[in-house]
Amino acid sequence: MSTTSKQGLANGLTNYGDKDFSLFLRRAFAAAAGHSPEMMSRPVIGIAQSASGFNPCHRTFPELVEAVKRGVLVAGGLPLDFPTISLGEPFTSPTTMKFRNLMAMDAEEMIRAQPMDAVVLIGGCDKTVPALLMGAASANRPAIQLVPGPMLPMSHKGERLGACTDCRRFWSKYRANELTQDQIDEAQTKLATTAGTCGVMGTASTMASIAEALGMSLPGTAAIPAVHADRLRAAEASGRQAVALALNPIRPSDIITRDSVENALRVLLAIGGSTNAIIHLTAIAGRAGVDVSLPRLNELSDTTPVLVNLKPTGEHYMSDLYAAGGVGAVLRELRPLLNLNCMTVTGETLGQRLDAEDTWVDRDVVRSFSEPYRPQGGLVALFGSLAPNGAIIKRSAADPALFEREGRAVVFTSLEDLSSRIDDPALDVAADDFLVLQNAGPTSEAGMPEAGYLPIPAKLARAGVKDMVRISDARMSGTAYGTVVLHVSPEAEAGGPIGLVRTGDRIRVSVKNRRIDLLVGEDELAERRARAPAGRSLPTRGYDRLYRQSTLQAEHGCDFDFLRPDGLQPRA
Ligand code: FES
Repeated sequence: MSTTSKQGLANGLTNYGDKDFSLFLRRAFAAAAGHSPEMMSRPVIGIAQSASGFNPCHRTFPELVEAVKRGVLVAGGLPLDFPTISLGEPFTSPTTMKFRNLMAMDAEEMIRAQPMDAVVLIGGCDKTVPALLMGAASANRPAIQLVPGPMLPMSHKGERLGACTDCRRFWSKYRANELTQDQIDEAQTKLATTAGTCGVMGTASTMASIAEALGMSLPGTAAIPAVHADRLRAAEASGRQAVALALNPIRPSDIITRDSVENALRVLLAIGGSTNAIIHLTAIAGRAGVDVSLPRLNELSDTTPVLVNLKPTGEHYMSDLYAAGGVGAVLRELRPLLNLNCMTVTGETLGQRLDAEDTWVDRDVVRSFSEPYRPQGGLVALFGSLAPNGAIIKRSAADPALFEREGRAVVFTSLEDLSSRIDDPALDVAADDFLVLQNAGPTSEAGMPEAGYLPIPAKLARAGVKDMVRISDARMSGTAYGTVVLHVSPEAEAGGPIGLVRTGDRIRVSVKNRRIDLLVGEDELAERRARAPAGRSLPTRGYDRLYRQSTLQAEHGCDFDFLRPDGLQPRA
């Protein structure tokens, strides 16, 4: 299967001022890699892969790359893999969120700069899938997302454990003196025991599901466990399909549309997915010129039931979802709500995909539309004087008893302030207070970390308090749970009202009315604003400077302004 003169290795020549020489030289170096003339005439399939010793979630990538290559070769393509930045959640400071856009730029530019007719994107740990999809959407070469798959839960002393929801649960017990040092040390080696991404419906699993719902991954592949042989077959099939896309291009712009983004939002809500996915899906959609509006999210949330019974909102693990029918089972239940004409990487529409699928489903894991796990979606946006541009709460992971409340603010002005005072026995705090964290938003020095799940103050935790209302401009891990209001916008760093809250102020939250209000008069707020210290100065160099200057607020997906097609400004 040979290519036309503009395809394969002839694509995008290096500029030496003589095109024929450029191609001659390129082929000379391809020959140096051992490729025969027949191989050099094939369509080139790039394999963007983010393996790294700093990213244990990606440790299966060498064999995934090998399987993708097998598929490409069988279908008549030339597979060439290349590295991208890798973002391992617990290994990156201050937070992987700060570097998602950097990885997206890396992916976009390398897809565009290197001679590939299509690309298989391999990523899995939280930020890597959105980064790769953002980059691919901007480069707009035919692309398929392949994820490494979730880890398997394993049993420890009679209970199944599968990473971070369980990590947080064990840590909370330890903080409440319910576990000894020896017990927590022992648990540390039992919480994440196989290759793959976190085994619950955290951000990685949510983004894998969203990639499939968007149509950017092969059907049925989001939930295949990392160590299951089906995962390798999915990799091989992705390689094969990439060659088909190279020959008959279907581009991300054909797939990521207003309709498919709404499908993905429906799936996000139905799976009880991560709050982070709102930011990431907004950023991916933004690259394709599609806006995700938070009021529209609320409309979708009110009409989309939670169907999937997975941690952190339920009880099962991602491998159970695979055994139960996978994301396809969720899509089939949602079918009356979905836009079925959306194109996918297979060349079929979503409707054609669903028509062809096996209909078996385990109802313990994926409930029917008529008997859902919860009647409404897991995520809602709140608006009000504390969050004029919106905030997010994962109501499916929160305590409904705390949904309609007024409380006294106990304010922490930074992450450092939080960690130095939260466990102070002298901290003036009660169980019905609202904990508020400031200066942890998108452009803050902290880089919008997953710190919105503020720990329950030690003295309250020991007294048995399990949940409190917590409010911040930060994010929260998709594996966390609690009555946590996140992504408050504008953030404190950008002059948002959250930065004006003082300990003792009253705040009212109403999930029913989608409201979050700071009950302080306008005059007082104006005075506080006038007295506020000057903002942090712009970093003098490097990525810090670019990040601070160009990052948009949460409702715009925290993308860089200059990477979107619409030229939004950071402080808009
Ligand atoms: Fe990588 Fe959870 S730490 S997916």
